[in-house]
Amino acid sequence: MPSLEDGEMFLPSTPGKFKDKSITMHRQFYRCFASTSTMFLWALFLVALTAAYLSFQSFVDSGSRYFSTAWGGIQWEKQVRASAQIRRHNGVSVLVTGAAGFVGSHVSLALKKRGDGVVGLDNFNSYYDPSLKRDRRNLLSSQNIFVVEGDINDARMLAKLFEIVAFTHLMHLAAQAGVRYAMENPQSYVHSNIAGLVTLLEACKTADPQPAVVWASSSSVYGLNEKAPFSESDRTDRPASLYAATKKAGEEITHTYNHIYGLSITGLRFFTVYGPWGRPDMAYFSFTRNILQGKPITIYKGKNHVDLARDFTYIDDIVKGCIGSLDSAKKSTGSGGKKRAAAQYRIFNLGNTSPVTVPMMVGILEKQLKVKAKKHMLEMPGNGDVPFTHANISSARKEFGYKPTTDLQTGLRKFVRWYLSYYGYDHGKSVK
Ligand SMILES: NC(=O)c1ccc[n+]([C@@H]2O[C@H](COP(=O)([O-])OP(=O)(O)OC[C@H]3O[C@@H](n4cnc5c(N)ncnc54)[C@H](O)[C@@H]3O)[C@@H](O)[C@H]2O)c1
Repeated sequence: MPSLEDGEMFLPSTPGKFKDKSITMHRQFYRCFASTSTMFLWALFLVALTAAYLSFQSFVDSGSRYFSTAWGGIQWEKQVRASAQIRRHNGVSVLVTGAAGFVGSHVSLALKKRGDGVVGLDNFNSYYDPSLKRDRRNLLSSQNIFVVEGDINDARMLAKLFEIVAFTHLMHLAAQAGVRYAMENPQSYVHSNIAGLVTLLEACKTADPQPAVVWASSSSVYGLNEKAPFSESDRTDRPASLYAATKKAGEEITHTYNHIYGLSITGLRFFTVYGPWGRPDMAYFSFTRNILQGKPITIYKGKNHVDLARDFTYIDDIVKGCIGSLDSAKKSTGSGGKKRAAAQYRIFNLGNTSPVTVPMMVGILEKQLKVKAKKHMLEMPGNGDVPFTHANISSARKEFGYKPTTDLQTGLRKFVRWYLSYYGYDHGKSVK
């Protein structure tokens, strides 16, 4: 039998003409094979398409799926809405970032107490003992404040929050704090204080209505400034640490969003905040722990053996400053990402105006704790600390009547009382 050329297999059969049986079988087999391979190719194509789509999605969502999936769902939305409920006439609805942190937890409680809506947000990172953050969160939840567990870099989660609640204000307190840790983990400062800030401002600019933004900068922006007291108009272009540099960058970044998108911005330069539920990485806190445990404390000295001094500011005074800022903030002027008119841009010092040297602070602690400290004096290393801080607060006083009222003695007494009730006298509970 003559062999068939490939092309012949595809010749149409003419009706009524004789067909060779073997050719027909061959044809059917080939058709079947051809359709199977076509199907296979289609399937392959579909699989490739799905894979491409999924990897595109994960690329688009890289600011989302990478983060925790602890948010979302009907129950979660219900909790957010309930927490944001305003319960007073002319009240505000505030998204508080860093709500499980020291300042954030106090501000959230104060807002809720007067009937404002508060939704917290925190990633509960382990920069210091997260169990302290969880305990603060429990305190907040006992007052019906819901703290969302999430990262400020999670754009999808932020968009969802602004979709659910028309926040009137953002109180942005989440940050990587601490001056010395920046030499150990510089990326964490970029992650939270730069990238996170931009993600948050993007969400605010797009939100409708746009919230008024009040956020924590820091007295550290004064860096190597030697003119005292520090005024808002003083130089802030010589930061002494990466932490300070990221806070200074934050002031410039927020200015951009104010200028382009009409976001109302208030930046607050806090001066060494202390008090109950404070931060374990801060000197007054770790000194208390070491003194009680009989361990030595390191006290740094500045150039020519000068004592370092700080404008220690009690937490309740800082809370008053935060709330005064929220209440006096004008509305943002943009919507849908477009600015309609010039918006408010403010920066305030929030300090106590009376610096105290570190050895004096230790003396107060020794008295309160009734234990003598084992002091180890060292020359201050060049790791980002500055010799002194001192706030001029006349701008905040003029704008919203800011007036700190707690001196260091009174404030430390309250701190020590809290410390002993939280950790106990047995010193057994370790604090990171
Ligand atoms: N305490 C001070 O003396 C002081 C002084 C100057 C400025 N500040 C600023 O005030 C703010 C509050 O400080 P604090 O003392 O309460 O610090 P804190 O560390 O106790 O609180 C910050 C909170 O933000 C959270 N957080 C950090 N990165 C986050 C992220 N990417 N996403 C979500 N949550 C995140 C942390 O888990 C923490 O609970 C910070 O911006 C800090 O830089 C504080």
